[in-house]
Amino acid sequence: MCGIIGCVGREDTLDTLVHGLSKLEYRGYDSAGVALSEAGDDEADGSAESEGSLDVVKCAGKIDDLRTALEGRETSGPVGVGHTRWSTHGPPTDANAHPHVDCTGQVAVVHNGIIENYQALRDELSTAGHEFRSDTDTEVVPHLVEAGLREGLDMEEAVREAIARLEGSYAIAVVVAGEETVFAARNDSPLVLGVDDDATYLASDVPAFRDFTDRVVYLADGEFARLDAAGWTVTDAAGEVVDKDVETVDWDPEETGKSGYDHFMLKEIHEQPRALRQCLRGRVDELGGAVDIGDLGDLSPTGVQFVAAGTSYHAALYAARLFREAGVPAQAFLASEYATGVPPIGDALVVGVTQSGETADTLSAMREASRRGARTLAVTNTVGSTAAREADHTLYIRAGPEIGVAATKTFASQLAALNLLSLATAESGGRDVVAALRDLPGDVQTLLDDSGAAEVAAEFVDAGAYFFIGRGYHYPVALEGALKMKEITYKHAEGFAAGELKHGPLALVTEDTPVFAVVTGDDELATKTVGNVKEVEARDAPVVAVTDGQSDVERYADHVLELPETHRRAASVLANVQLQLVSYHVANELGRSIDKPRNLAKSVTVE
Ligand code: M6R
Repeated sequence: MCGIIGCVGREDTLDTLVHGLSKLEYRGYDSAGVALSEAGDDEADGSAESEGSLDVVKCAGKIDDLRTALEGRETSGPVGVGHTRWSTHGPPTDANAHPHVDCTGQVAVVHNGIIENYQALRDELSTAGHEFRSDTDTEVVPHLVEAGLREGLDMEEAVREAIARLEGSYAIAVVVAGEETVFAARNDSPLVLGVDDDATYLASDVPAFRDFTDRVVYLADGEFARLDAAGWTVTDAAGEVVDKDVETVDWDPEETGKSGYDHFMLKEIHEQPRALRQCLRGRVDELGGAVDIGDLGDLSPTGVQFVAAGTSYHAALYAARLFREAGVPAQAFLASEYATGVPPIGDALVVGVTQSGETADTLSAMREASRRGARTLAVTNTVGSTAAREADHTLYIRAGPEIGVAATKTFASQLAALNLLSLATAESGGRDVVAALRDLPGDVQTLLDDSGAAEVAAEFVDAGAYFFIGRGYHYPVALEGALKMKEITYKHAEGFAAGELKHGPLALVTEDTPVFAVVTGDDELATKTVGNVKEVEARDAPVVAVTDGQSDVERYADHVLELPETHRRAASVLANVQLQLVSYHVANELGRSIDKPRNLAKSVTVE
């Protein structure tokens, strides 16, 4: 999704903006641009009024294309904003890239989100003589600000008036020629300040300025921020100053580098042992088998509804099973579908599972649940995210920053955290699960040290399609295996509940479609899944068994990806790591853009 960076107070503003944009690349984008404002000479020395200058450079393409566009330009100014765009209104073209300017070129605006009433505003502004140069919804904003300035309002008043006209979601930052100020506003789209002694930053996500400061201020919906030479101020819609907490982010900038790996995705797959340790630290009593997740342990829900999207939805499916196994009615919903027919809530707990904490579909479902009086819990990776701030309770998964668009370590940490949640709030015993969780980081490391996934990937890189099957806790893993394969290889992949194959999908199975079967343990579920594997084998499809070797699935498999023996809940996490690696290696063999797959964004902040 789109990314915003702004800064005030540095001498190397342009470099700082471009650096910030490169740190936001992981969010997914198709164009980029910057705007820098400088006071005129006279005004700068305080002697007279001056128009000052505003330099805007933007283009479709990557940050490197922007760097090329900036070469030889005398773009300067102590105050600036930058943007990476992920197209919603209009194709990725130079004209549609942000920043957008008004008729005079004196007002520049960057925006994340969607302005729902933009067409009406555009018609009104066009009638009043404003000329539009792009297809975007955003462009109405600089024209609204321009109209306010023409009426004699100062910059802050003009921006506030413009914002008051907008309906929809936005994180907006504005610079005006001659003003050494960035003015920003947020509604339903993340915006965070980075504060330092002599500079202030503004961004849609912390990595954009984390190399410069670890002190942050999260803006809430309806708040405005003013960044200028004196520092920063946050105000509400009425202009009253809001007393904000300055928080410290506890992760190292190094964590957002590749540390020698070819891709962030591979690095993050290998970070899973550490991420899991962080998730579990201080929360499980390894000796006594008890779980402590703080006050959340008192929630004792009588029913749970999970809402989530994509990979997080797969974690939600797994979590609903955890609660049902503990005798608590629980269901997982695709967040985008939840509001289309909200089931009775009663006194159910509604849990939003979202690594970013900013997924618009999930936030919208959680808000709907809140409106209906439900208690809400956010299970998220992102401290200060909208989900964390809006929910009644928050459980952090503590995976550390995830840069690759494909969710990997956050899925493992979600499963671990959701196990803790179910153990603490719904189950009495669970010593065997606690032991398996305790061993999980080491088991993942064992698997990573000797995976075999690269060889399997090489064997099937030209396959026509990939199928994944599993039962019980392994069914969400089958879905997740397929999602990962689709998103980074661009090839057809499907995940099925193993028992469903014979009800239709078996027609797709051929010798050109490898089937990855997750089978662990030797119980009835395993026996039935082995039966499904035999059905596949009889149709000449290559079978890759992802297994701990306790069943006889290996007899029917062409390849085996081994898992350490453990509780079946933990086995799902391990099986998923093998499948992540297979997808990664297939994508790598195909030369795909692994960390930034086409058309995708890390954090999907529109519905
Ligand atoms: O930030 P969230 O967990 O709410 O994101 C939800 C999905 O957009 C996300 O899981 C997506 O499916 C992954 N990038 C897939 O790898």
